[in-house]
Amino acid sequence: MIAIGNDHTGYELKQAILEYLDSKGLEYKDFGCGKVNSSDYPDYAKAVGRAIQNKECDKGILICGTGIGISIAANKMKGIRAALCHDCFSAEATRLHNDANVLALGARVIGIGHALKIVETFLGTEFSGEERHIKRIQMLED
Ligand code: RB5
Repeated sequence: MIAIGNDHTGYELKQAILEYLDSKGLEYKDFGCGKVNSSDYPDYAKAVGRAIQNKECDKGILICGTGIGISIAANKMKGIRAALCHDCFSAEATRLHNDANVLALGARVIGIGHALKIVETFLGTEFSGEERHIKRIQMLED
């Protein structure tokens, strides 16, 4: 189950991602926001982070204008590893190496087509499970 959240800048990209997830038969929970003029990105980072913390969802996608604010907010939460990725190499590497559980995107930074390829790469890549990466991820929590 994928948790998805966005601020006002990310609504359009979020809708495109939801269509993509629907087309792939992937289940998600939408934590907002809807089409509004202004909103606060930490609210949506926290909602998605909590859904992962309580195991309601196993992965998350967060969108704000740059992807920066919303990833900073998510990364303050225990057990959340949010990766801001604007290329497929990073999206693949962060799953393989960091077992990132949240993908952050900047709706004002990349186009929708590119963002969808990044989502596909992120969701389609398993953690490598290699010992050195497990150790380093554990060090993030210590
Ligand atoms: C909203 O204007 C913008 O600051 C927000 O979407 C995000 O880019 C913050 O990091």
